Amino acid sequence: RSQKPLACRKAIVTSGPTHEPIDPVRYIANRSSGKQGHAIAAALAQLGAEVTLISGPVTIADPAGVTVIHVERAEEMRDAVLAHLPADLAVMVAAVADWRVETASDQKIKKQPGDAPPALRLAENPDILKTVGHHAQRPKLVIGFAAETSDVETNGRAKLERKGADVIVANDVSPQTGIMGGDRNRVKLIFKDRIEDWPEMDKDAVGEKLALMLAEMLASA
Ligand code: C5P
Repeated sequence: RSQKPLACRKAIVTSGPTHEPIDPVRYIANRSSGKQGHAIAAALAQLGAEVTLISGPVTIADPAGVTVIHVERAEEMRDAVLAHLPADLAVMVAAVADWRVETASDQKIKKQPGDAPPALRLAENPDILKTVGHHAQRPKLVIGFAAETSDVETNGRAKLERKGADVIVANDVSPQTGIMGGDRNRVKLIFKDRIEDWPEMDKDAVGEKLALMLAEMLASA
C-alpha cells in the first residue's frame, strides 16, 4: 500500500474553541485546547493530504506541513471553511460556541458602582458541521465530534443524522476523565450501521488512527 494514501486529497479540519466577543476585552468561549484537532490535521498531512486547518484561538503551535487559518468567531470559522470547499474530506473538531452576543459593544462595558449587571442578549451561531454536511459541495467524507458528558452513544447517533455526517467521534468529557485539555483521549466512533470503541491513547495516536481509517474509507468510496 502507498505510503501517502491521501496524496492529491484535500482536507479541511477545524480545531480549538471560538471566542465570541462581548466587548473589546471580554468574550464567551467553550473549553478546548485544540490538541485533538491539530493532531488530526498533522496526521492527515503525514499521509499526503493537502490540509487546511481552521483554528480558533489556541496556545499550541501550528502543526507542520499544514496551511493554518486563524479565526476568532464562529461566523469567521464558517466563512473560512466554506471558502475552502470543495474538499475530499472535512473533519470538524472545533468546539464552536453555540451562541454569540447579538450586538457586541465596541467600547469596554464599564462597571459603575451600584449598577445592575448588564444583560447579554444571545444569538444562535451557525452550525458549521451541519452546513457542510448538507452543502451542495459536500465533501465525500464529513466527520464530526461529539463531546458529551452522558449518553454518549444515543447523543452521538442523533448528531450523525442531524448534521449529515458519515462518522461522529464521540468522547466522554466528564471532568473526572481528564480528557478536556489533557493529552489522552478515549473515543467511540459512531457510524450509520455500527460503533467502534477505541482504547484510550494519546491524542496524536487517535489522530493517526483516524487519518488511516479515513484514507481507507476514501479509497473504497
Ligand atoms: O452539536 P454539537 O456542538 O455537540 O456538535 C459537535 C460537532 O459539531 C463538532 O464536530 C463541532 O465541531 C461541530 N459544530 C460546528 N458548528 C457549531 C457547533 C458544532 O461545526 N456551531
